[in-house]
Amino acid sequence: MQAYPLSVPLPSGDKRWKLVEGTMRRYGHNPSALIEVLHTVQESFGFLDEVSLRFVASALRMPMSKVYGVATFYHYFSLKPPGEHTCVVCMGTGCYVKGADNLMKAIEEVANVKAGETTSDGKVSVVAARCIGSCSLAPAVVFDGEVIPKAQAGTVRDRLRRWLGHDAG
Ligand code: FES
Repeated sequence: MQAYPLSVPLPSGDKRWKLVEGTMRRYGHNPSALIEVLHTVQESFGFLDEVSLRFVASALRMPMSKVYGVATFYHYFSLKPPGEHTCVVCMGTGCYVKGADNLMKAIEEVANVKAGETTSDGKVSVVAARCIGSCSLAPAVVFDGEVIPKAQAGTVRDRLRRWLGHDAG
């Protein structure tokens, strides 16, 4: 008798979970896909939190301890965003052709960090992601889980300045 994975509800309506689910589906929800799936979470969200680890564990039908063990073993994975806020810039092709690199430049300038880094005051981590599953909204930037559709440099600069406590005017 073939065991078939029960479908596990996505943690929220955030489209990035669909990407994670897509990776799992590609591997037939096989536990051997764990590292690949964790990579997708990290690339889409910038870090792995408890919600994502629990979701991955139940969808791959693996003990949480095992998932947690793998996530902590590899330095590539971070278990929480180092900054108080996270700004994820999609650098996937769909967003790139719509100017994601300019957005990233604007963000790096205001925050005075490079992608993958956190501001020295610990306020904001800037993350470059691959496609986050919202190509129709390109270029997309995610501020603490909120997707900014068709993002413009001015908007993301203002948002960042507010987080950083700079004068937005
Ligand atoms: S390429 Fe950016 S959302 Fe798909």
